[in-house]
Amino acid sequence: MISITSTILAILPVLSTLVSANPIAARTSNVSVTFIGAADAQYTLDIPASSTWTPTNNVLSISHISTSAGGPCVFFGVDGVVFVAPAEGGYGDVGPPQTIAGGICGPFPGSDYGMW
Ligand SMILES: *[C@@H]1O[C@H](CO)[C@@H](O)[C@H](O)[C@H]1NC(C)=O
Repeated sequence: MISITSTILAILPVLSTLVSANPIAARTSNVSVTFIGAADAQYTLDIPASSTWTPTNNVLSISHISTSAGGPCVFFGVDGVVFVAPAEGGYGDVGPPQTIAGGICGPFPGSDYGMW
């Protein structure tokens, strides 16, 4: 009994550390996004899945976007394209090709309000 009790007491702080650490890890996880232009020009950004705006700070004209899992994400082009990437990640076309100003990854705020 004593050893079981002391084992539980020894584990408890570990458990509470895990419980408190998990939400932080969820907030800081990233989606790896590759923006692909013409002639194999491309760049990759780690975008935090924090439902906040992340600018690309890159004027390269983009024809395709590839994302890792962890979204969903939505990206906005300067000529009006809105590109939605699914939570499981994927690859899609941007048409017509254009500079991507930035995007948002993570749960869309509207889902909290039954909007979609
Ligand atoms: C997310 O990306 C940022 C910037 O590149 C990096 O500092 C951070 O460690 C990454 N977080 C994870 C969980 O990979």
